[in-house]
Parts: sequence; structure tokens; C-alpha cells
Amino acid sequence: MSASTITPWVIGNWKMNPVQAQAQQLLNEFKQLLQDHGIAEEKCHLGIAPTMLALSTVQAQLSDAVRPVYSVAQDVSRIAGTGAYTGEVSAELLLDAGIGYVLIGHSERREIFADNRDSLNAKVQNALNAGLKVIYCVGESLEQREAGQAEAVVLQQICDIAGVVAAEQWANIIVAYEPIWAIGTGKTASPEDAQAMHAKIREGLKQITSYGASMAILYGGSVKAENAVELAACPDINGALVGGASLNAQSFHQIALAFANTQ
Ligand code: PGA
Repeated sequence: MSASTITPWVIGNWKMNPVQAQAQQLLNEFKQLLQDHGIAEEKCHLGIAPTMLALSTVQAQLSDAVRPVYSVAQDVSRIAGTGAYTGEVSAELLLDAGIGYVLIGHSERREIFADNRDSLNAKVQNALNAGLKVIYCVGESLEQREAGQAEAVVLQQICDIAGVVAAEQWANIIVAYEPIWAIGTGKTASPEDAQAMHAKIREGLKQITSYGASMAILYGGSVKAENAVELAACPDINGALVGGASLNAQSFHQIALAFANTQ
């Protein structure tokens, strides 16, 4: 059992999946599992991050679940407000659609879509100023880990946003540590390695903000039902950002249960 007093978060990152009919089936199955084997909101917060296209539909489908399951955007524009920005969705528009949470800085956005320090700072700042809660993703590559730079890289990614986050806004940030080499590869960081990095992140956060001790730090990277209990038992792992396994209702539910059972 983890001694943590932080209510865990388990968030499914659906990425560019699935087609509508499958999404509907997945949500129906997940809602049924929540009804049959309840997970109290105070034991574990739940979120699902579908494609931008599906956000409102998923939110509507989740509205009759037995407990809150929050809809989370996978990204947000670096431009605030409204205007002539083809293809973009701003933080204000997300909020207007009733979406309260957004992932920012996922490694796929950093690596494939060229998100960098400047664009991420703008996204974080706009999202927080608009009133969204941010799940800020950090993580090192295999190369960086093998060169002994993992910790420095991750802490730098956290320091990167420090300049744009106002003191009280840290309360609206969740950090997700996702080692890039563990994402979608089936390779998970060992619970010991993950805990060690989470403890470093916690130390770093404590130096930056008075909320450091109470912020949730999620682990992501090949989390599945089979490794969730071990990860959940680590004191500084306060939940999971789940990719592949969140596309299976039973697996996602099992992972949520593993974290809820630590409370
Ligand atoms: P994965 O993805 O669980 O499929 O490794 C995690 C993520 O990218 O958020």
C-alpha cells in the first residue's frame, strides 16, 4: 500500500484511435465495469483523452456514468482566444466546450510535431490562464538515459515551464513522467527506476512551488493491468497515463482499480 495522501489519477490517452463505433463500445463497456465494480471518486480520479474530434461525443457519453470520468484534450493551440488560425483549437474554445483538462508536452507532440520549449510555454500559459488543468508530460529518450542524463533532462523540462506558471497555478498542474523508450514498446521502467525518478521530480517541484508535496505525478509508458499494482505501490507514483491499454475497457478498469486500492 502506498502511504500517499494524493488522490491518484488514471488517464487513458487514446491518441489517434479508435473509430467511432469502437469508441462507443469501449465507453459502454467501461461504464458497465464502473457500475459493476465501483471505484469511488475520492480513491481515484479518472480521465479519457480522445481525439479532438471525439472530445464532445465522449464527454456526452460519459455524462451518465456512475461517477465522474473527465474528458481530456490531447493538445491545445499555442495561440489564445479565437481568430484566423486554421486547424487550431485554443484553450478558451476547449473550456467553452466544457473540457477542463489538457495534456501538454506529450513526447509524440515534442518529437513528431516539433513542440519545443517556446510553444510548450505558450500552451501551458494559455491553458492555465484560461482555467484549464494541465497534465504536463516529461520524459527522456533511451539515448539520454544511457548517457546518464535522464534526471537532468526531465528536471529541465519541468524548469522550462516555471517561468510561465504563476505561483498559485501550480495547483492546476499534474506531471506525467513518460520515459520515451517505454511508450508503446512494452518496456516499462521498473517500479524502482520509476519511483526513483518520481522522487527526483517531487524534490524538484518542491524547490519550485509550495504545491510540490501535493502534486500528482503520473507514470506513463506501457502501463498495463499486469504491472499496475507494482507501480501503484510506489509512494511517489500517483497514477498513470495509459496509452495502448486504455483501448481495452477491462485493462483500463484494472489499472484504475490498482491505483484506487492504494487509498
Ligand atoms: P503506452 O502510451 O501506454 O501505449 O506506452 C503511453 C502514452 O504515450 O501516454
